Amino acid sequence: MNDTFLRACQGQHTEYTPVWLMRQAGRYMPEYRAIRSHVDFLTLCKTPDLAAQVTMQPVEMLGVDAAILFSDILVPLEPMGMRLEFYEKEGPVLSEPIRSKSDVERLIIPDIEADLPFVMEIIRILRKELADKVPLIGFSGAPFTLATYMIEGGTSKNFLNTKKLMFQHSNVFDYLMEKLSVTVTAYLSSQIRAGAQAVQLFDTWAGILTPMDYKRFVLPYVKKVISEIKKEGVPVIYFANECAGILKDIKKLKADVVGVDWRIELSDAIKKLGKNAVVQGNLDPCALFLTRENLEERVKDILWKGESAKSHIFNLGHGILPHTPVENVIAMVEAVHYYSRNA
Ligand code: CP3
Repeated sequence: MNDTFLRACQGQHTEYTPVWLMRQAGRYMPEYRAIRSHVDFLTLCKTPDLAAQVTMQPVEMLGVDAAILFSDILVPLEPMGMRLEFYEKEGPVLSEPIRSKSDVERLIIPDIEADLPFVMEIIRILRKELADKVPLIGFSGAPFTLATYMIEGGTSKNFLNTKKLMFQHSNVFDYLMEKLSVTVTAYLSSQIRAGAQAVQLFDTWAGILTPMDYKRFVLPYVKKVISEIKKEGVPVIYFANECAGILKDIKKLKADVVGVDWRIELSDAIKKLGKNAVVQGNLDPCALFLTRENLEERVKDILWKGESAKSHIFNLGHGILPHTPVENVIAMVEAVHYYSRNA
């Protein structure tokens, strides 16, 4: 197996910089769209054969150094008692949002193996298929990002309902974060036991908070989740979007790898995290629409800036966008491998 990604997660020297992409399986790929034309998104997530097939598409087409389980961060919210739907234009909708103490009380802590058996099944299928290829990454939404979807009922612009609950009923907000932390810990542990060789926590919305609120309402919960998960013995990656203002706090989480978005120079992020940090990132997903030459320049720049870290895993600064030209993604992966080998 190509274990370059796993060795980089552990801070070891690798012959070249490993690369994978957040949301590497998805609508920009014609092969993904072909499968999606027959099934809706949630059915795809719950059909192990198909989800495994979709996970393999970028591994085969792009030559990336890791696979990521095909699922969605919102999938565990269903067994918690929430109604989840995905719409073409709006994205995810949770039609009965959490706004009060009794709403939080009603939330169930799922029995992962019994309620989400398809996730473990996808992982088991994938480990067999990936045996001589690349490692498999499992994932979960981080408690705060899941809380925003539960409270807002979907994606939001100002996250006013989330902040109102946080500021006006902090005990209720804490109670929700507590329940989510227990769920996320159990969910990731189960994924690791089923065969996930690394896990990533997606804290997509952490950057909407003031650093002070991040410290008070998010940090203690993620810290606990990460310290529990680390006992399972696989690398833990923490990705927070718009992380620049909270990197000093993220350092305290002691994640094995810190994912960095594109709004900060990777070298500046490393200065804030310290030279012993292992970082992942941070190409602007829109850079995949540049000319080949300009794209390669940006790849080289990020590789160069990543050199001051203990190890660097190349990735985008956030998920790949629909309509991204597949040939540019292939060129990017090749450029990462070529220029990091020949630096
Ligand atoms: O990375 C991978 O290839 C694995 C699969 C994966 C998906 N979602 C598939 C997906 C992962 C890791 C996610 C994580 C996820 N989901 C996050 C965190 C990462 C991030 O992007 O910030 C979030 C916030 C979600 C919630 C979510 N799921 C939204 C907001 C949407 C709608 C917006 C969109 O991009 O369509 C989804 C749907 C979704 N999740 C799709 C895919 C491939 C598109 C669904 C489709 O096929 O129509």
